[in-house]
Amino acid sequence: MSSLGQMVAGVAHEINNPVNFIHGNLKPIRDYSQGLLDVLALYQERYPDPGEVILDKVEEVDLEFVREDFPKVLSSMEIGTNRIRQIVVSLRNFSRLDEAEMKPVDIHEGIDSTLLILQNRLKPRRGEEAGIEIVKHYGQLPKVECYAGQLNQVFMNILNNAIDSMDGQEQPGVITITTELLDVTSSEKTEPIPHVLVRIRDNGPGMTETVRSKLFDPFFTTKPVGKGTGLGLSISYKIVVEKHGGQLSCISELGKGAEFHVQIPLYPGHQSLEPG
Ligand SMILES: Nc1ncnc2c1ncn2[C@@H]1O[C@H](COP(=O)(O)OP(=O)(O)OP(=O)(O)O)[C@@H](O)[C@H]1O
Ligand SMILES: [Mg+2]
Repeated sequence: MSSLGQMVAGVAHEINNPVNFIHGNLKPIRDYSQGLLDVLALYQERYPDPGEVILDKVEEVDLEFVREDFPKVLSSMEIGTNRIRQIVVSLRNFSRLDEAEMKPVDIHEGIDSTLLILQNRLKPRRGEEAGIEIVKHYGQLPKVECYAGQLNQVFMNILNNAIDSMDGQEQPGVITITTELLDVTSSEKTEPIPHVLVRIRDNGPGMTETVRSKLFDPFFTTKPVGKGTGLGLSISYKIVVEKHGGQLSCISELGKGAEFHVQIPLYPGHQSLEPG
C-alpha cells in the first residue's frame, strides 16, 4: 500500500499526455469535418444529379445518417476525454506525491477524489439492481494540516474494506461519510485542541469483538488467501496515529455494520509526535 501513491501518480502522468493528444485534436476534427460536410452540401446543391455511381455510394454509406451522427460522435468523444482528464486530476489529487511536507488541505476534496477512484466498485454489479449509495454529511471544516496523499490512502483502505464487507449482501449497500470539527481536551491542564473527525459507516455485516480487537494488527485478515494482505488497516493506523498524532478506531457489532473514526488534530505539525 505504501507505494500505491507513487504508482497512482505514475499512471496518472502516463495517461495525461496521450489523453491530451486526443482531446486537443477533437476541436480541429470538429472544424475539418464540418468543413467537409459543408463542401458536400454545396456539391449536392450545385450538382443535384451526380450520376448513378455517386448516388449508389451515397446510399451505401448512408450519408444522411453520417451527416447527422458525426457531430454526436464527436461530442461523446469530448465527454469521454473530459471524463478521463477529470480522473487524472483526481488521481494526482489522491496521490499528492509532490507534497512531502504537511500542507493545509481540504479534507473533503481528498475524500471526493478517493470516491471517484472507487467509482467502479460502487456501481451495480452484474445481476444487481443497485450499486452502493454514498451519503455525505460534510460539516464546515477549515483546511487541515496533513500529509494529504497518505490520508487519502487511509480513506481508500477504509472505503475499500466497507465495499468488500457489503459484497453480495441482500440489502442495498450504503456508506455514510460524516465530517465534523471537534475540540478534544486531553487533560484538564491543557487547552482543548481542535480536531477533525471523519466517520465512515457501512451497513455491511459488521464484525465480532474478536475481529474488532485485531483490526489494526499487521497481517490480520479474514479474507481468503490472495484477496487481502491484512495490511490496509495497520498501515492506516500508522498514518493516522504516528504521522498525524490522531486516532483511528472502529465501532462495530456483528450484524450492525461498522463505523470507522478517523480523528486528526487540525495542526498536527504543532504537536510533538511519536517518531514514526
Ligand atoms: N467495514 C468492515 N466491515 C467488516 N469487517 C471489516 C471492515 N473493515 C475491516 N474489516 C475486517 O478487518 C480485517 C482487516 O482489514 P485490513 O484492511 O487491515 O486488511 P484486509 O482488507 O483483509 O486486506 P488488505 O487491506 O491488506 O487488502 C478484514 O479482513 C476484515 O475482516
Ligand atoms: Mg483492507
